[in-house]
Amino acid sequence: MLILRTIPELRTFVHDWRSQGLRIGLVPTMGFLHEGHLSLIEHIKPHCDRILVSIFVNPTQFSPDEDLDRYPRDFDRDEKLVEERGADAIFYPDSKEVYPDGFRTFVIVEGIGSVLCGRSRPTHFRGVTTIVAKLLNLTDCDAAVFGQKDYQQALIIQRMVEDLNLDVEVLFAPTVREADGLAMSSRNSYLAGPERERAPVLYRALSQGQKAFESGETSAAKIKQEMRKALRNSGVTVDYIEVVDAAQLQPVEKVNRRTVLAGAIWLGNTRLIDNIIIEP
Ligand code: PAJ
Repeated sequence: MLILRTIPELRTFVHDWRSQGLRIGLVPTMGFLHEGHLSLIEHIKPHCDRILVSIFVNPTQFSPDEDLDRYPRDFDRDEKLVEERGADAIFYPDSKEVYPDGFRTFVIVEGIGSVLCGRSRPTHFRGVTTIVAKLLNLTDCDAAVFGQKDYQQALIIQRMVEDLNLDVEVLFAPTVREADGLAMSSRNSYLAGPERERAPVLYRALSQGQKAFESGETSAAKIKQEMRKALRNSGVTVDYIEVVDAAQLQPVEKVNRRTVLAGAIWLGNTRLIDNIIIEP
């Protein structure tokens, strides 16, 4: 597997592929890969000739009290998985390569960046948009893929690409789940025993909301009530559970357009998010 550790190395390969007229697809990740990440490789295959996976635990998207230091890492395992799925190269820089001394520039998407997860993690998305803008620029990719699991993130990136006229196709890929419904996440590795058993409650709650909608309920308040009921006495702390429109992420009163049921919960020190899209 081709492993690119520095920006000049990355640029050399990107330039070479480009001069051969090859289309480049980017799969940005923070590593500790699971089937959700690997499905992104499959998803982008039809859109490009070369697939680059980036593995970088991006410090700017963690606040000082978050889990940057203990975020799970296993590069050797990741490398094997990426190779098995047929990607062509891994960009695996260290922090100084990406953020050299003197780094001062951030990309901020306003509005949709400050609701839902942006409310409880106020500096998170500016870290995400900044690293993704850098990766899109460095890899000169034609397409990049993001998971619906992090719907707000994908929407913010799509907005950034449009607003900054970046010439890249942003693809959304469906959420991959464990057999019990829990959305796959590198952070699931923090969960053990009873916490792991409780974790699918978020998806169950969102599914209750979806079921209410599918049975004819269009009142967001009623749908929210159903979701809250499913979370009650479940031993988790709710960060938010919302019914928002899929384009602006603003609360809706009636579900009469594409709408996202989105939630975030705490299980001990672990924060999990998930969402389901519903559409009349
Ligand atoms: P990470 O959490 O590693 O996720 C990388 C990509 O995998 C994201 O697009 C995410 O939405 C997607 N993904 C994660 N779990 C998934 C699942 N269960 N099903 C489908 N897709 C899933 O998201 C990040 O890293 C970072 O914020 C990043 C975009 C790399 C910027 O640092």
